[in-house]
Amino acid sequence: MSKGLFITLEGPDGSGKTTQLDLIKKYFEEKDEQAIFTREPGGTLISEKVRGIILDKKNEEMAPMTEALLYAASRAQHVAQLIKPALERGKTVVCDRYVDSSIAYQGFGRGLGDSVTVINTFAIDGCIPDLTLFLDIEPSRGKARIDGAMDRIESERLEFHKRVYDGYKKLAEQYPDRIKCVDADRSVEEIGIDIERYLDEVLIKRNEL
Ligand code: TYD
Repeated sequence: MSKGLFITLEGPDGSGKTTQLDLIKKYFEEKDEQAIFTREPGGTLISEKVRGIILDKKNEEMAPMTEALLYAASRAQHVAQLIKPALERGKTVVCDRYVDSSIAYQGFGRGLGDSVTVINTFAIDGCIPDLTLFLDIEPSRGKARIDGAMDRIESERLEFHKRVYDGYKKLAEQYPDRIKCVDADRSVEEIGIDIERYLDEVLIKRNEL
């Protein structure tokens, strides 16, 4: 059996990922294609516990490298327990955030640079997405769209979110075949149409293999 498709969704906080994920679920249902939906940080019991530590607003004193290693630890468990076995069984996996989030938030946002790529090489164990959809929205516009209580990362200053955004843009330039930028400062329908197009493309490519 061929290896399953691995699709990730990325974007600044408030980029509308949750809404688009619902549309992606519908897309796969209509195609009668089973897909596993998961998220980071999280996706397994251990990873969700680590998520609780990372996002807890009480953990103000957390050092940037601790944060990066905790995200990577949560990811290592997620890859080992869920993502890799599913892909090996030929399943499609759709993940809300993945390693690009760490490079953007910890590498660029926290200024940890390439060390984040290095630690994540161990965490991802060769599982690189086939397609990454980047919901592209200016951080000030994104922040304004967050409703409800903000977690430890969302509460960071706008300067931090600007660095994260620049990081994402650099990643998209570096990996144009994998990372597709979708202008997220538009209506849900317009964004959805672009996403569907990229999903169609990746499914066609897989079916040709
Ligand atoms: P979450 O509530 O899932 O936010 P969102 O709905 O925006 O995805 O919280 C995840 C937060 O963690 C989000 O602010 C991005 C951040 N994050 C990192 O900083 N590094 C990472 O590697 C990942 C996966 C997430």
